[in-house]
Amino acid sequence: STSENTERPAPPTDSQLEAVREDILALLKQPDYDDGSAGPVLVRLAWHSAGTYDKDTDTGGSNGAGMRYPYEGEDPANAGLEHARLFLEVVKKKHPWITYSDLWTLAGVVAVKAMGGPDVPWQGGRTDFVDDSKLPPRGRLPDAAQGADHLRHIFNRMGFNDQEIVALSGAHNLGRCHIDRSGFDGAWVNSPTRFSNQYFRLIRNLEWKPKVLTNGVKQFTYYDEDTETELMMLPTDLAINQDPSMEPWVAAYAEDKDRFYADFAAVFGKLLELGIKRDSATGHILNTDNEKGG
Ligand code: HEM
Repeated sequence: STSENTERPAPPTDSQLEAVREDILALLKQPDYDDGSAGPVLVRLAWHSAGTYDKDTDTGGSNGAGMRYPYEGEDPANAGLEHARLFLEVVKKKHPWITYSDLWTLAGVVAVKAMGGPDVPWQGGRTDFVDDSKLPPRGRLPDAAQGADHLRHIFNRMGFNDQEIVALSGAHNLGRCHIDRSGFDGAWVNSPTRFSNQYFRLIRNLEWKPKVLTNGVKQFTYYDEDTETELMMLPTDLAINQDPSMEPWVAAYAEDKDRFYADFAAVFGKLLELGIKRDSATGHILNTDNEKGG
């Protein structure tokens, strides 16, 4: 490569990143949006930006911020995430130096922490350069109507094992399903903007009944007579409690919140790094657009 190509942009200073974190924090409160918070949908944006990764072909992942373009952005699997991207647009305008791929992943990390979750390790340096040879096909994100073998097929492709699949599923402590986005409807827990291990406790302790929605979609439901609230679970959420090798982890996380927090932090951090290559000594990213001359 030419000397020009080896010049990398100066990494952001700690205070620049701190300013971005603060501006993400400032937009989490959204009185007119779901449960008054942008937090859950930002967590989903971070996950879907990274969850297209395929370890065998080294394609997909958060680099490139492909959801900016229709092929990935208008994938039905990503329906609703335009809200998350729009919330973050004010931060991008104010701090144009940050890449979308860094902003989307960082926003998920900031949101988890702000909603009472753990500190998820995060490093910047992702590129928005779209490498056409790394574009993920549609169909790489999980289908909630399926079972444990499907989850294994999807998450093993990213490099995750059964325990990591269960820990990651605990993100469904947050947010809700929207009938006009996924076809499923409702929230998993009573406080969907508060990170906790309640999701695992509810999976195990409540009696979930199948329910077919008016659109024909099948989910599971629990109606609490006392509080007059209805909670939901996806078929995949209950599948992890049926699978002999995943079920012990559902039990462990239901009983031990600290263990769940530690394991979730590690695996969510790992998810957001998929496809990112760093110099092991400096942490500096190696696969930037500069590598290819822009
Ligand atoms: C929402 C499926 C894993 C975080 C949803 C929705 C579905 C779904 C169907 C509802 C979307 C909507 O209607 O708006 C799945 C399946 C998974 C999975 C099948 C496989 C295990 C994950 C992971 C994370 C995550 C790994 C993050 C670590 C979320 C969050 C929401 C959500 C935070 C709520 C979004 C909102 O409130 O707008 N998921 N998901 N999910 N998912 Fe997952």
